[in-house]
Amino acid sequence: MPESESLSNLLSENRLFKPSDSFAKNANVKFDSYQEAKKDRLAFWEKQANRLTWDKKWNQVLDWQLPFAKWFVGGKLNASVNCLDRHVAAGIGNRVAFFFEGEPGDSKTITYSQLLIEVKKCANALESIGIGAEDRVAIYMPLIPEAVIAMLACARIGAMHSVVFGGFSAEALSSRIQDADAKLVITSDGGYRRGSAFALKPAVDKALENPNNVKHVLVVKRTGQEVEWKNSRDLWWHELVEKQSDEHEAKSFDSEHGLFILYTSGTTAKPKGIFHTTGGYLTQAAYTHHAVFDLKPEKDVYWCTADIGWITGHSYVVYGPLINGATQVIYEGTPDTPTKARVFQLIEKYKVTILYTAPTLIRTWMKWGDEFPNSCDLSSLRLLGSVGEPINPEAWMWYREVIGKNNCPIVDTWWQTETGSIMISPLPGVTETKPGSAMKPLPGISAEVVDDKGNPVGNGKGGYLTLTEPWPSMTRGVWGEPQRFIDTYWSRFKNMYFAGDGAKLDEDGAFWVLGRVDDVMNVSGHRISTTEVESALVSHEAVAEAAVVGANDAMTGQAIVAFVILRGGIDSATGAELEKSLKDHVANEIGAIAKPKKIMVVAELPKTRSGKIMRRLLRDVAENRQVGDATTLADPNVMKLISEGLNSGKSED
Ligand code: WTA
Repeated sequence: MPESESLSNLLSENRLFKPSDSFAKNANVKFDSYQEAKKDRLAFWEKQANRLTWDKKWNQVLDWQLPFAKWFVGGKLNASVNCLDRHVAAGIGNRVAFFFEGEPGDSKTITYSQLLIEVKKCANALESIGIGAEDRVAIYMPLIPEAVIAMLACARIGAMHSVVFGGFSAEALSSRIQDADAKLVITSDGGYRRGSAFALKPAVDKALENPNNVKHVLVVKRTGQEVEWKNSRDLWWHELVEKQSDEHEAKSFDSEHGLFILYTSGTTAKPKGIFHTTGGYLTQAAYTHHAVFDLKPEKDVYWCTADIGWITGHSYVVYGPLINGATQVIYEGTPDTPTKARVFQLIEKYKVTILYTAPTLIRTWMKWGDEFPNSCDLSSLRLLGSVGEPINPEAWMWYREVIGKNNCPIVDTWWQTETGSIMISPLPGVTETKPGSAMKPLPGISAEVVDDKGNPVGNGKGGYLTLTEPWPSMTRGVWGEPQRFIDTYWSRFKNMYFAGDGAKLDEDGAFWVLGRVDDVMNVSGHRISTTEVESALVSHEAVAEAAVVGANDAMTGQAIVAFVILRGGIDSATGAELEKSLKDHVANEIGAIAKPKKIMVVAELPKTRSGKIMRRLLRDVAENRQVGDATTLADPNVMKLISEGLNSGKSED
């Protein structure tokens, strides 16, 4: 069925969209890529590695000592040269790399040549304060051009960056600085969000009150707000970076040289430092960006709305698009400031052709109403992408109709911080799409849905999502914790990477990712571990015990619901105040994104005889369902008590 047919016609079929002939004709990737990769997977990836400029070619494509992979062994390259220098050398330095839009309405256009100069200056600045290829640099910034420049400058000198999302608290920043043993923090005085300036530097100051080996803090002046200053440690970006030479020769690094660490929530309270290296990561980021987004670098204006604090910002704002010479939009602020049409106005202003965003934002737009997108000219759009959580078919159809005007293929892309790049997604112009399905593994990727014993479930059935062959951008491990890498991903099923997600295969073999099957929640596309929130709660003086679940939420996918047992002597009748204090405490410990939506004070928690909290039962309560099978509870009365306590009205939102 062509992309342009009307919605009612489309819905009357069994919701299968065939690529339009016109899109298919010009698509970057053709159907035979699947066969080509299947025939010789390593040759396929070797061909993709040639998208990069290598200073020395590899002598082995893959060295696989399960679960440890090395890709393009012996090859040497520089990530920043691949993103910038080679484009300038090829004569496209005047192409716009970024249209930056600040939330207050300031904007800046940065070409590839200009970006290269800034990155070289920043690289010189970092080297001038003793940062080198052995070091880690924490980056804690709003989405402003200097954040990208800082990442590329680190990559240029071989220092690993560890970007910490600007919404995380001082505590969260501190533990990440400590875990990676960062020597430098790059931050800004603050940024703009929801119409006002927020501060970042105070959180850095507070984080650095804890033990650390940070020698310097490099501060971008973004808002001009007052900041405290420690002369021996703090440096202004505009003083240090601006005075540097714009000449900088990049060194070559080994294909397996560390590129970055990015922390993500696991099933314990301690976040995992997911560790990525250079050659394989860049190869797959570049290939998938080219293939899945069908990028035509001379014509397209591409906008991925992710913050650089997440893997999507790393792979599909920084590395993939820049390697491919894309022209991009980046926006500092929130989608409702100063109007709920802000994103659509920017699409119109910059004539955005490719939009990549998250289901939570799509559902928010649906709630706000069609008048906002309809008030802008969105006709430049030709491709839409989704990432971060399962997209419900209704949101998919709305995205297609109201944003894409039934004229844009939708790519629902499944992947993870650990996979580094997109793994399962339709290929636009090639693969049919179904609303809500990520369809099938990309060429060169092997995925399987398996049962409890690791056997493939076959079509029409559900199970655990696994990856059965190594891929170039796979994480090389958990920073400093090799055993945790093996235990978390490679122990559940023999010889397979277990992603932590449940999935089903439909009758046609299309993949439907159902969400996490472990104790990780997905709130607005962000991973948050139940244990992490629990341990934040029990660090509050009023809390004796806590259990946290992700309850289905129409807007954010999941919402955090916490059940707490108070310490003796604390009167739960202090309800609203206590609840606020607990929520603020979690925001303080982790960040505002981890604030529970609801806190319920209970007398007991449902536990098995071995003491494991039965979250399934709590989820039933949180989602207002009949409580399921409770026969394995140590004390069968607990659920009755919880329900009774809750019905007495102490636990209002
Ligand atoms: C979920 C984000 C369904 C999934 C790139 C995964 C998805 C986790 C999708 C990784 C999708 C991501 N459909 N679920 N298209 N994309 N997820 O590490 O549960 O922040 O395991 O990486 O998000 O989140 P992460």
